[in-house]
Amino acid sequence: MEFLQTKAELRAWRQKVKDGVGFVPTMGALHEGHLSLVRRSLEENAWTVVSIFVNPRQFGANEDYHRYPRTLDRDRRLLENLGIAALFAPSEEEIYSPEDEVWISLTRLSRLWCGSYRLGHFDGVALVVTKLFNLVAPNRAYFGEKDFQQARIIEKLVSELFYPIEIVRVPTVREPDGLAMSSRNTYLSPRGRAQAVALYKTLQYIQALVPKTRLTADLLREARTYLIERFPEVKLEYLAIVDEYSLEPIEHLSQTSQPRALIAAYVEGVRLIDNLSLTVPPDAE
Ligand code: PAJ
Repeated sequence: MEFLQTKAELRAWRQKVKDGVGFVPTMGALHEGHLSLVRRSLEENAWTVVSIFVNPRQFGANEDYHRYPRTLDRDRRLLENLGIAALFAPSEEEIYSPEDEVWISLTRLSRLWCGSYRLGHFDGVALVVTKLFNLVAPNRAYFGEKDFQQARIIEKLVSELFYPIEIVRVPTVREPDGLAMSSRNTYLSPRGRAQAVALYKTLQYIQALVPKTRLTADLLREARTYLIERFPEVKLEYLAIVDEYSLEPIEHLSQTSQPRALIAAYVEGVRLIDNLSLTVPPDAE
């Protein structure tokens, strides 16, 4: 595995390998969720590059940029064992300069859901992913469904900026109790960790109710009540049922729209997100 820390090193490596490059951008503190993206890339590409960069531009002023877990030595060993071709772990100065003037400003999709609570977050994600795509020039890039809105935004970015990159969406990897794996789960105490399963349980609760009603307002009302009663320590930020493509809320479930339930909530002050594709049985039409 090549360990690359500068743009020049990455570009030199990229010129040697030609095509068949799969790319997995991450912020490190790797867990099985990240590794499932890496394994998928290893299966589908001759060369797999992973990046580890905690991107300051996607964190709000009051967010966890400084305490975000940084475990580069461990991550490096994990990736080496998986057999990737190259790890790109640049410093902040390699990616940004104080004189930078380019900023990416997204519109509708970035202002919904997470974007409405984390202003500028997806602009920062789009900026770093654009820079990384330009350096790595991958043929395929891998994104987790765990961050569903992010994956949709990257799909739009690639399509609208004409990147010749195939975006591959990888299903969410969960802990045995259903909690979506996340680097931020490490912030939780054992008590908080037990409450954190609330997000997935609420999504499952919605799915279980689907055969009874196709009115999303009813589903959401019942799910909110369930969450408050079962998990009183969890502070809901948003719960929504949206069309998977546009991410706009939908009123009725039908088999023609592909519905997905999205949730964000705080547990012990830690912001967690999750989502679930809803299956609509024919008799609920
Ligand atoms: P990070 O949170 O490190 O996640 C890197 C990739 O791993 C993302 O595509 C994310 O969706 C995926 N991922 C995280 N947890 C997952 C899980 N439990 N199952 C499946 N995939 C999972 O997302 C980012 O970093 C950053 O925003 C980044 C795209 C790197 C830009 O800075």
